Amino acid sequence: MSIPTGPAGPLRFPDNFGWGAATSAYQIEGAAKEDGRGESVWDTFSRVPGRTRNGDTGDVAADHYHRYAEDLDLMRDLGLRSYRFSISWPRIQPDGTGAPNQRGLDFYRRLIDGLHDRGISPMATLFHWDLPQALQDAEGWESRDTAYRFADYADAVFRALGDRVPAWLTINEPKTVVQNGYLIGHHAPGRQDPDAAYLVAHHLQLAHGLAVDALRATGSDSRIGPALNLHPCYPAEDSPQAAAAARLYDGYENRLYLDSLLKGSYPADVLADLGPRSRMVQGIRDGDLAIISAPIDLLAVQYYTPIYVTADGGTEHRWATSEAEWQQIYPEGMYDILTRVTRDYGPIPLTITENGLPTPDTMGPDGTVDDAGRIAFLRDHLAAAHRAMAAGVPLESFHVWSLLDNFEWAEGYDQRWGLVYVDYPSQRRVLKKSATWYRSVIADAASER
Ligand code: NOJ
Repeated sequence: MSIPTGPAGPLRFPDNFGWGAATSAYQIEGAAKEDGRGESVWDTFSRVPGRTRNGDTGDVAADHYHRYAEDLDLMRDLGLRSYRFSISWPRIQPDGTGAPNQRGLDFYRRLIDGLHDRGISPMATLFHWDLPQALQDAEGWESRDTAYRFADYADAVFRALGDRVPAWLTINEPKTVVQNGYLIGHHAPGRQDPDAAYLVAHHLQLAHGLAVDALRATGSDSRIGPALNLHPCYPAEDSPQAAAAARLYDGYENRLYLDSLLKGSYPADVLADLGPRSRMVQGIRDGDLAIISAPIDLLAVQYYTPIYVTADGGTEHRWATSEAEWQQIYPEGMYDILTRVTRDYGPIPLTITENGLPTPDTMGPDGTVDDAGRIAFLRDHLAAAHRAMAAGVPLESFHVWSLLDNFEWAEGYDQRWGLVYVDYPSQRRVLKKSATWYRSVIADAASER
């Protein structure tokens, strides 16, 4: 039983609750040219002047590729029970296709073995946005073929590492690829093309379903599911127009992904809004929805912020905004989204694979990093998750984003999301106060048993 102190006193979590932290390959590994790794879209994108803050790239990042053993020890010291990381596709298939690169697989084998040695359960994401550039050159996710390339890559990874990974996640936040990569264009590949964006959404969903099939075909009994960032969408005002706008907004933010995965159909309002001549609608083939809705074992939810939708379909902020201008701090949204998923889609086992806050962390003269804001944020969100569990939500685990400060995509290294501070010039790791707080939350759990 675990006891983070909530606003209303201690909260009891189940004995086997999966206290965890999360990272992704491009954001922490560095070693961009080592052991046969190929180029990814983020290598290309981050090198274009003006695309990332300060021109930052993931070339070195937190140098985790070389320091993974030290990072594993940190995880053990924190008492983590689950570690969610991602596998870099261009390390496994430098050109996005063909025989797997053994040196790439070996790195993940060492990482996974190191987790088991320390009693930490690995949760591996297959795609966290680092598409091999060679596939982007062949139209990337606009091409249906990329979904099949992904299934081949997934199959190679399952065959090499599957015996040691109890839980797989397919695609991380397809919506972010759609919105940031193809609508707004501030993520790789930097496009602003709404018609392409939703075709990409369909192909990402298809890729997910094909990977689920690939895992089942290996006979594995590991679990698999998607990782979705879900945003509760509320009307910004009490009017039928705002309610209708919020409903459609919810279609694009949540139901497009949830309905296709869990109901085997895309939401009718979104399809109607896209129109029959849209590339997405034209791109859906017979049988695709059956592939996309292949039964999953767990659904990974990433919650950061609510969205308030105005009558004209715009958005506005209601709560304090974090250092990430898109994030409003609203713990109740965690409760709302978790209970809604269970209510609307049934009792699928849920894991929170990301929740966190960027704070302006600096190391004090005494060598400590005081991130009180992060502690308050995590405490309040854990309390909301706990309330959702008490209301019947089958939540198994919670992963803080992130274990380490890392490359926050277009925001580069300025935004710090870690429990652990990374002093980039020296690559020294320093536990922030939130890390020691989280350690005590987990340790209280252990001592209660
Ligand atoms: C979602 C993404 O999966 C992760 O890569 C990112 O760093 C965090 N959110 C914070 O923005």
